[in-house]
Amino acid sequence: MDSFAFIIHPIDPKRDVSRKFPLLGRLLNVQQINFLSTYFPPVYISQIDGLRSESTGKEVRGWFVACPLTPARMLELPEKTVYRKIVETGKLAERLGAQVLGLGAFTSVVGDAGVTIAQQLSIPVTTGDSYTVAIAVEAVRAAAQQMEIPLAGATAAVMGATGAVGAAAAELLAAEVGKLWLIGRRAEALLALRDRLRATKPSPLAEADLILTVTSALDTVIEPRHLRPGAVVCDVARPRDVSARVAAERDDVLVIDGGMVQVPGTGTAFNFNFGFPPDKVYACMAETMALALEGRFESFTLGRQITVAQVREIAAIAAKHGFKLSGFRSFERAVTAADLARVAERAHAARRARGQR
Ligand SMILES: NC(=O)c1ccc[n+]([C@@H]2O[C@H](COP(=O)([O-])OP(=O)(O)OC[C@H]3O[C@@H](n4cnc5c(N)ncnc54)[C@H](OP(=O)(O)O)[C@@H]3O)[C@@H](O)[C@H]2O)c1
Repeated sequence: MDSFAFIIHPIDPKRDVSRKFPLLGRLLNVQQINFLSTYFPPVYISQIDGLRSESTGKEVRGWFVACPLTPARMLELPEKTVYRKIVETGKLAERLGAQVLGLGAFTSVVGDAGVTIAQQLSIPVTTGDSYTVAIAVEAVRAAAQQMEIPLAGATAAVMGATGAVGAAAAELLAAEVGKLWLIGRRAEALLALRDRLRATKPSPLAEADLILTVTSALDTVIEPRHLRPGAVVCDVARPRDVSARVAAERDDVLVIDGGMVQVPGTGTAFNFNFGFPPDKVYACMAETMALALEGRFESFTLGRQITVAQVREIAAIAAKHGFKLSGFRSFERAVTAADLARVAERAHAARRARGQR
């Protein structure tokens, strides 16, 4: 049977370590987990069974394997040390028999986004970023429609616009929205992207109707004061970019967890709780799974230059096998029709009070 593996790693150190090692998660504090993660070996997590294509009926087997490093450690440690640990985790996947390997969360952010890691492994590697772009943009479109924000007249913003996911998502959105702001830290990189996409100059987040945020910041970068009433924010970053205070203090904005995908059918057993409801995965996981179902054992996405053609191709492959955009969730809770109606109502009231449209 064809197979894949996917590398996960702790993002919220105590919560995620507890999922595999409840006792260690309880006893160790975050500093201790960060420190010990450097010396911990790669961890076998679980076998994934029952993933079947809706169109061809082909079934594939998969494995979750974990690189013990936390995001903070990946940014602190020398790049070579981080690569070594990810490659060791990839070799565990090779020994299990995986034919393609997906890099989850920060394992695809570090250094050159998978290129060096792929060179040191004998199986193909993908970051999953192409399908993440496709799903993030689809989520923004769907949320805008739900909130009755016509794309052509909307002001959108991409935060982390110089990144692998951000730049390609900005390229797609640029063709669909009225005005696009590119937000990031490096002026030069932003200006180069602006020239390429013919977007407007960088401006404050507070004027955007639609925000796609996908930075690799360790801490949150979007706070309640940054958002206008009625704003829709799709947060693809892990760790999250949007502060939990936004959920607590701003009932007039809609924040959706970006990059969430429904797998085909209902028969997939992950045999590990990675924090999602049944049959839902991150888009980067879905890219790896879709490649295995298609029998495309190749390094589909590596590096930070993702083309629109790549995004469209993986979106078509994933759709063929039955992957689709998941229903909206916000801070790990399902968004209901009543939630949407309440946000729209509050946003309307807030705008009326400020004398805005
Ligand atoms: N949900 C999913 O399925 C999924 C899939 C893939 C990735 N992700 C997540 O998406 C995020 C980005 O991934 P990527 O591969 O696109 O990373 P990337 O290529 O490294 O890009 C990161 C972007 O974030 C910006 N940035 C970094 N730190 C920042 C800070 N403190 N404040 C503001 N901007 C900052 C960078 O700006 P500079 O250019 O200035 O460095 C860059 O634009 C990560 O959190 C990753 O875990 C999620």
